Amino acid sequence: DWTMASYKDEAIRKIRETVGDRKVICGLSGGVDSSVAAVLIHEAIGDQLTCVFVDHGLLRLNEGTEVVKMFRDNYNIPLIHADEAELFLGSLEGVSDPEVKRKTIGRLFIDVFQKYASEIDGAEFLAQGTLYPDVIESVSFSGGPSVTIKSHHNVGGLPEKMGLKLVEPLRELFKDEVRELGRELGLPASFIGRHPFPGPGLAIRCPGEITREKLEILRKADAVFIDQIRRHGLYDEIWQAFVAILPVRTVGVMGDGRTYDFACALRAVTSVDGMTADYYPFTHEFLGETATRIINEVRGINRCTYDITSKPPGTIEWE
Ligand code: XMP
Repeated sequence: DWTMASYKDEAIRKIRETVGDRKVICGLSGGVDSSVAAVLIHEAIGDQLTCVFVDHGLLRLNEGTEVVKMFRDNYNIPLIHADEAELFLGSLEGVSDPEVKRKTIGRLFIDVFQKYASEIDGAEFLAQGTLYPDVIESVSFSGGPSVTIKSHHNVGGLPEKMGLKLVEPLRELFKDEVRELGRELGLPASFIGRHPFPGPGLAIRCPGEITREKLEILRKADAVFIDQIRRHGLYDEIWQAFVAILPVRTVGVMGDGRTYDFACALRAVTSVDGMTADYYPFTHEFLGETATRIINEVRGINRCTYDITSKPPGTIEWE
């Protein structure tokens, strides 16, 4: 008789058996997967675990502080907050190719992670929140974005480079099961219900060149969209929702003046595991109200579109 409670106990037992009295480092992204992995491992081995949260400057509004607060306040997990926004954004200047963006971020992520992790004396294990679909997706597609997802997501090459052994306690689970395990571990419901967020963050929601100006506009627009979705009670029905800022300025009118600002696209999908997805059927009232709010509240955007592409043939992210 299989329950999540017994899965948890078994996972804890296995982690203790594997790790013994040695030290583990866990890369925390702020997402559900790495958070559940961290809390589970912490329950198994306590202070033998240190988490490293790399802030690459591509997070959503207030995200960095919220993640750090949640871990410091609710759990007593040793946490290194690596604020490396300048490094990442500097290296991404002038880069507009999606694959080069991912590779740049992935490479820097490894460097930074390695730098901080080397300060943790005698760590022998690297923990990751790899899920079952990550394991399958990385073998079932060749070419295409799925392969490179893994190179960042799984901090590719890092364990070997650092001589670390991997701990992946979620490898057999699907997303919904990870959420159930998270509830079993007592993580706050609001945290467990969070939409997935990609490792490269806002970089792949900013097609073309990334600038600080665009990122700032994007963060504000995204926050308004998510606020709209929450106000209408739709957040939990949606797998992922976000704004992408488009690399084009368009003409508009505002009061007596002409504007020449960025256009944005709203994206919201339903999905079971992210491998396929349908666009979310918002009402026209909702879309109209959201567009009005974004254009009124976010300086720098004067046009709003809704992306109605399913996956396949589209992907969920724009890059
Ligand atoms: P796509 O855009 O490929 O996304 O339909 C499927 C799911 O994967 C996430 N995603 C990523 N996650 N690194 C990640 O950690 C990446 O490079 C990456 N690209 C896409 C995406 O947010 C969605 O949940």
